[in-house]
Amino acid sequence: MFFTRLVSILAAVSFVLAADWPNGPFVNDGRWIVDASKNSVIYAGVNWPGAAETMLPEGLQYQSIEFIVAKIKEMGMNVIRLTYATEMIDQIYDNGGEGIPIATALVSALGQENGTSIFQRILANNPTFSENITHLEVFDAIASECAKNEIYVHLDNHVSKAMWCCAYNDGNGFFHDTYFDVGNWTRGLSYMANHGLSWPNLMSMSLRNELRPTLDSLVVTTLYYNWGTWYTNVKLGADAINAANPKVLIFLSGLLSDTYLTPAIDEAWLLPSFSTFNKNDFAAPNKLVWELHNYDLVTLEAVTCSELQTILHLAGFSTLTSDNEKTALPMVMTEWGFDQDDSTWEGVYATCLVDYLPAQQVGWMIWVIGGSHYIREGTQDADETYGMLNHEWSDWRSPAFVEEALIPMVNKSLSNA
Ligand SMILES: *[C@@H]1O[C@H](CO)[C@@H](O)[C@H](O)[C@H]1NC(C)=O
Ligand SMILES: *[C@@H]1O[C@H](CO)[C@@H](O)[C@H](O)[C@H]1NC(C)=O
Ligand SMILES: *[C@@H]1O[C@H](CO)[C@@H](O)[C@H](O)[C@H]1NC(C)=O
Ligand SMILES: *[C@@H]1O[C@H](CO)[C@@H](O)[C@H](O)[C@H]1NC(C)=O
Repeated sequence: MFFTRLVSILAAVSFVLAADWPNGPFVNDGRWIVDASKNSVIYAGVNWPGAAETMLPEGLQYQSIEFIVAKIKEMGMNVIRLTYATEMIDQIYDNGGEGIPIATALVSALGQENGTSIFQRILANNPTFSENITHLEVFDAIASECAKNEIYVHLDNHVSKAMWCCAYNDGNGFFHDTYFDVGNWTRGLSYMANHGLSWPNLMSMSLRNELRPTLDSLVVTTLYYNWGTWYTNVKLGADAINAANPKVLIFLSGLLSDTYLTPAIDEAWLLPSFSTFNKNDFAAPNKLVWELHNYDLVTLEAVTCSELQTILHLAGFSTLTSDNEKTALPMVMTEWGFDQDDSTWEGVYATCLVDYLPAQQVGWMIWVIGGSHYIREGTQDADETYGMLNHEWSDWRSPAFVEEALIPMVNKSLSNA
């Protein structure tokens, strides 16, 4: 009797401790993301893509979800940015509300022979998957394994038509582009926000990855590619997410492939309109967060660390020290990354961000966890040189970077919250 009571007390105590995490919902407080106890939360994590032609999170033909999440945990990370395509939700609507089995999707994307053999390998690595498993059941399994490991999920709307992102002529670049129907997009955001209500660790969602001018449609670029259209649509998208799921934070990305948020943050005219950014124009101003991307473009190779910091400041990091009540919000660098060879990590770009992001108490997700893609730009089993993991997703691609720089960086970001 005493013993059973003790066991049930212990069970209750551990239940309380477990229920404490993730301690959401998160909100913004000026430049900070804070949890339900008002403690600051800093994201330190990695991208896990799932928006290419198969619409399936990558790597499962090589490893189990448990193995991949354990590698993320081994780096000490607290978040994944899980990407998806709007087309995945469009297909559910086209199919009378039912998800498409991934077996079918793999054959469509990879052909009969390869699609079938990749599906068999995915099942062999992930024996809890049933033969009819759908995309969202795979997403659910990833979210659940992350929750077990106390890793948050940030869902990213990466593209409309599923493919490798982000060419300037891929029809996915900006609102009203060939595949970028605004109604399908807001419907997809609502659908995923609603679906994610069942994930205890879904803390945030993006509106759209890397908005950019589109070279295949001069009409879209001339008529629509501007801050005025951006503002109209980000309000629609944010309010759609918030109506479906009032818990999640909503990330706003900028133009020029999300490298530039300046007019919004500086409260300049959002031309061609004469409106200016004001978080109170949104249904849930306390849920908004800025996001930026940064890569070591050829043109930046010569920059010093202090020049890179100036570039980031001008692009939007100025929000971190701003007292503008209408535009000051938290900032997260949701993509940065570089070749995982033996030496690039010791160059200016990588060493700069490895120090600078934790020092600024800015959240971040590095691109990218996996070492290969089911298919990328027409090549099946394409190698991913930016991957933390090698081609088979079995171990680090650049152990020196992960062990000597990345793990300490995660630690600094999380200790510095
Ligand atoms: C099947 O996949 C291999 C790479 O694993 C690729 O070389 C081959 O072209 C693919 N076959 C078809 C028919 O696409
Ligand atoms: C998968 O779907 C097929 C066709 O609808 C059905 O016959 C089969 O029983 C299903 N398998 C499982 C494991 O649900
Ligand atoms: C929008 O979704 C519908 C399915 O509901 C689909 O048939 C249509 O092709 C989608 N539009 C675009 C531009 O992708
Ligand atoms: C950071 O590393 C120190 C020293 O190894 C460790 O005690 C601490 O728990 C780590 N903090 C986090 C947040 O990982």
